[in-house]
Amino acid sequence: MPTVTYHLPDGSSSRVEVNRGQSIMSASVDNNLPGIVAECGGSCACATCHVYLSAEYGGSFAEPTEEELELIEYLEGATGESRLSCQLVVGDDDREIHVRVADSR
Ligand code: FES
Repeated sequence: MPTVTYHLPDGSSSRVEVNRGQSIMSASVDNNLPGIVAECGGSCACATCHVYLSAEYGGSFAEPTEEELELIEYLEGATGESRLSCQLVVGDDDREIHVRVADSR
């Protein structure tokens, strides 16, 4: 089963198993993890699910849509690794994925 480790700005981390087809955002919310707010519930409208995904995991996910890129453009702290975790749907490979959760304070 794929796993995702969420690294928080305070240095803590949480590792959870994620169902295929589930987004990194929803896995965080379903496990009551801190850090990812997800105000819009995953409809790519709020950008409160901002994470950093290193390039080594890029091939595991679909490329960002124009809609996602436009939201990221206005985020404080956005980098080339920025993604909206509601758009990161875990696929078939059983790999362990690491994301850094953006500081939302
Ligand atoms: S949960 Fe709102 S954009 Fe991801």
